[in-house]
Amino acid sequence: ARRVIIDTDPGVDDALAILLASGSPQLKLEGLSIAFGNGKDIAALGSNAKLILRLAGLATTPVSLGAEPTTCTDDEVGAVVQREGMAKTLVHGEDHMGNVSAQYGKDASDRTGFHELAAPEFIYQLCKRHPREITLVCIGPLHNLASALHAHPDLPELLREVVIMGGAFGERRGNRTPSAEANFFDDPEAAQAVLTAGFEHLVLAGLDITHQTDMLVLRKACVESGSALSQFVWDLCENFINVYHDWGETLAPAHDTIPIMYLLRPDLFEGQRVRVEVETKGDITRGMSIADWKGQWQKPKNCTVLRRITDGDEFCREFVRAISRLPDF
Ligand code: BDR
Ligand code: CA
Repeated sequence: ARRVIIDTDPGVDDALAILLASGSPQLKLEGLSIAFGNGKDIAALGSNAKLILRLAGLATTPVSLGAEPTTCTDDEVGAVVQREGMAKTLVHGEDHMGNVSAQYGKDASDRTGFHELAAPEFIYQLCKRHPREITLVCIGPLHNLASALHAHPDLPELLREVVIMGGAFGERRGNRTPSAEANFFDDPEAAQAVLTAGFEHLVLAGLDITHQTDMLVLRKACVESGSALSQFVWDLCENFINVYHDWGETLAPAHDTIPIMYLLRPDLFEGQRVRVEVETKGDITRGMSIADWKGQWQKPKNCTVLRRITDGDEFCREFVRAISRLPDF
C-alpha cells in the first residue's frame, strides 16, 4: 500500500477525506499532522483528528500538532484567528466538526496523546525513514510543509508526491476572498514556498475541481449503502450543507476528498502540467493562485492542476466502497 501522511485542519470535508483514506486498503495512513486552521487552539483540531481516527478504527495512528503560520507576528496571528474564526466557524461549526463531535464522543477536555514531534519534524522524520515512499496530502493551510522545507531543504527529494487542496483555477477565483481560496489565503507565503520548492510530483486540486463534487450526493449514497458510519457522515455534513445552501450554492463541495480520491483513482481525473505561483503582496489579491497556461513567464512548470472529474458516479461509488469497509465503532 502507498504510505500517506495527511496534513489537515479537521474540518468537515477533512473528516470525509480521512475516512476515505482510512477505508482504502491501497493507502497506508502513516499519520496525521495538524495545520493551524481555526484559531490558535490547534489541540482542539488535533482532538477532532483523534475522534475521526477512532471512528475509523485507526485509534493508534499518530497525530502530530502543527506550527503556527510561518510569517505571522503574534498580532497578525490574532488577526488571522479572528478572521478565520468567523468564516470557518460558520462552515465547519463551532467545533469544526459540524457541531456533532460531542454527540460522537469527543472529550473536549482531552488535549493529550499527540505525537512528541511537531508536525514539520514529524513529516520530515517519516520521509527520512521511508525515502521516496511517502505521499503527503495537504488539505489545510500550508505552513507545516513550508516550515519543514525551510528546516530541511532536502525534503523534496525524500517525498514521493505531494497532493494539495488549494487555490482556484477557473472562473471561481476564491472562497475566502473574491480572489483567494481559503487554504492559500491563510498562508500565502507558505503556498508560494511549497510551489517553488522544486517538487517533481506536485498536484493541485483547486476550487474549480472541488466544486465538481457534492456532499449531498456522497452522504445520501453512504446512507443508502447502510454502512456502519453512514449516520455519522450524515450528521457531520448537515451544517456544512446548510451553510452552502444559504449562500445560494447549488451544491456543497467535498473539497478535501479530491486529493485522496486522486491517489485512489487517478483514472477519474484530467489534469494539466503548468506553472503556478501565489500572490503574497497584493492588497486585494493576496493568496490568489495564478496558473501560467500560456507559458508567458517562461518559467518551468511546477505542478499538475486537476481540471475535471471524468466520472462523477464512479467517484461516488469509490467513496461509498471505502466508507463501507470501516468497522462499526
Ligand atoms: C478548504 O478550506 C477549508 O475550509 C476546507 O476544509 C478546505 O480544505 C476549501 O477552500
Ligand atoms: Ca481543510
